[in-house]
Amino acid sequence: MEERRLGPVVGLGTWNTFGGDAGAARTVVDAAFDAGCGVFDSSPMYRGAESSLGAVLAPRRGETTIATKIWAGNVDEGREQYARQLEWFGRVEVEQIHNLQSWEQHLPWLERERGEGRLDLLGVTHYSPSAFGELARALRTRRFEVLQVPLNPRERECERELLPLAAELGVRVIVMRPLGEGALIRHAPPEAVLEELGVETWPQALLKWALSDDRVDVIIPATRSAEHARVNAEAGSPPWYDAEQRELVERFAS
Ligand SMILES: NC(=O)c1ccc[n+]([C@@H]2O[C@H](COP(=O)([O-])OP(=O)(O)OC[C@H]3O[C@@H](n4cnc5c(N)ncnc54)[C@H](OP(=O)(O)O)[C@@H]3O)[C@@H](O)[C@H]2O)c1
Repeated sequence: MEERRLGPVVGLGTWNTFGGDAGAARTVVDAAFDAGCGVFDSSPMYRGAESSLGAVLAPRRGETTIATKIWAGNVDEGREQYARQLEWFGRVEVEQIHNLQSWEQHLPWLERERGEGRLDLLGVTHYSPSAFGELARALRTRRFEVLQVPLNPRERECERELLPLAAELGVRVIVMRPLGEGALIRHAPPEAVLEELGVETWPQALLKWALSDDRVDVIIPATRSAEHARVNAEAGSPPWYDAEQRELVERFAS
């Protein structure tokens, strides 16, 4: 297994943002990259986002990490997705099996690709706690190096079994939905609380909350806004929150 450390960093999610509009992608991706974001999460499910990312990141591929996915019910379809990814990205640093779909079928050919050096790390994702038992089973095969699950102050089910298991097995963790799909942002605490938390904005406090769990490597907030991408990327540096500061964030997020 290649020891490639992913974080702790703020990456960029691409679900429901620029899709196949490479012009819109350029604005957001450039702002994120210039603010220090180097990890970009995508999927064949995200309506053209992979091709936009490929076009925008081409000149700086060496400085970026692509975490994309195979989202296919059979091996032929999965291989077609992968062939397009190699055209867009040249290689794939983190290849994740999206929503555990047909994971036992995809694993052998993906492992061969990893063996031949065209991808670095294999991961598996799911958004629903009802699938966490199956995610744990997949991790226990010890054939995955990356796990992607939701984590924010209102969605903490992964803390029960998956985060301890990932830590035990040395699996890196990517956090989806760190802002609860935007729902957590609506009620910001007073300015004095943000000051106490050492941030300028409430989204930054929520992002720091997730990244302050030392089992988490990367968080991938999604945005259509260059300004939000910049502000979010700035949340990716220490000092990290202690237990008391995390509790303060939880109080205002609930
Ligand atoms: N594997 C899976 O099953 C799965 C499932 C879900 C998500 N994911 C991945 O995880 C990523 C993140 O999850 P998500 O997109 O569902 O939710 P999220 O990142 O928790 O929230 C995105 C929402 O937050 C808003 N936002 C972001 N930054 C903001 C800021 N600084 N200020 C105000 N609003 C802000 C965005 O609106 P604006 O556009 O206005 O900024 C958007 O509505 C996805 O894009 C995808 O890459 C994976």
